Amino acid sequence: MGDKVKKLIDKLNKNKHLDREEWLTVLGEWDESDREYAADIARAVSEGVFGKKIYIRGIVEFSNVCKNDCLYCGIRRSNKNAQRYRLTDDEILMCCDEGYEYGFRTFVLQSGEDLSYSAKRIADIVSRIKKAHPDCAVTLSLGEKEYDELKLMRQAGADRYLLRHETANEEHYKKLHPSDMSFSHRMKCLEDLKSLGYQTGAGIMVGSPYQTIDCLADDMAFFESFRPEMIGIGPFLPHKDTPFCDEPKGSYELTLFLLSLCRILLPRVLLPATTALGTIRPNGREQGVLSGANVIMPNLSPTAVRKKYMLYDGKICTEDSSDECRSCIQARMKRIGYEVEISRGDFK
Ligand code: SAM
Ligand code: FES
Repeated sequence: MGDKVKKLIDKLNKNKHLDREEWLTVLGEWDESDREYAADIARAVSEGVFGKKIYIRGIVEFSNVCKNDCLYCGIRRSNKNAQRYRLTDDEILMCCDEGYEYGFRTFVLQSGEDLSYSAKRIADIVSRIKKAHPDCAVTLSLGEKEYDELKLMRQAGADRYLLRHETANEEHYKKLHPSDMSFSHRMKCLEDLKSLGYQTGAGIMVGSPYQTIDCLADDMAFFESFRPEMIGIGPFLPHKDTPFCDEPKGSYELTLFLLSLCRILLPRVLLPATTALGTIRPNGREQGVLSGANVIMPNLSPTAVRKKYMLYDGKICTEDSSDECRSCIQARMKRIGYEVEISRGDFK
């Protein structure tokens, strides 16, 4: 039956739920016409909620020092070729000030798991940003933290936190991470974030090594039950200095399809068209938006350090200034009939 997958996509749109067998069918049997069908529905759902507006978040990658050794990641601690850097508190503030001038009203502070930035230090940075720009939202993406640390940063004014779960399948998680990292701790962090009132982001890499249709069905069931306010999905891209250097890239089309399925499942979710999607295809972010994404996160890091935050080979936007990225995104969105929105863009 040619339209089995389309019928299930309709069912997902109507009931906001599929059971496991149905997910396995959708994820295992889709073809290009199903992907386009899902994209059309997802785009309509997204426009129903957000109109033709795209939210922008300025991302400040403030340190590439990391105590972890995730097998996929270019800034893992074992990568001796990575040139490490850390921005000072003042430099981080300056990036946000500059971003504010360009119209950003959300700042995302992202780093490796770098212990030299204690929760107290991050809380101070967050307070300073909030004091300088009370109309802005601050998003953190610092990896796993303990409850009290998350609480301190939340009390200092942090609004949102991005922590991709990476995979909802524990066996798969073990194949992507060394044994000193645990699936249960990552999941506990996500629960802690929600209970502390953060707008919480989860997410995955599409096509990470050992990922199966079963893993993706687990991810979709996790999104349905956890109901994250944000979902970060991008293709896995290999980095030459990691154990996964020879693994194939994730599928561009499957990434777009999953974006559409997430939009249909959770109509109000904040869904970025990621930098990895723009790296795998020159117009990947535009296609992400046309598949249901409604957020883009241009880089606000100083140009001097951008090349050092190399999570995967070929990462785009490492030569450009913050201003160039901002205008580039605006022009790209305009070309496909969308408009960049200057507001915090909260989950409602
Ligand atoms: N340390 C924080 C954390 O663990 O959440 C934030 C930084 S971490 C580098 C941000 C995300 O980059 C990860 O959650 C992962 O999904 C993504 N990432 C890392 N290596 C990647 C790769 N080779 N290809 C695509 N995405 C990658
Ligand atoms: Fe950075 Fe286009 S977003 S150059």
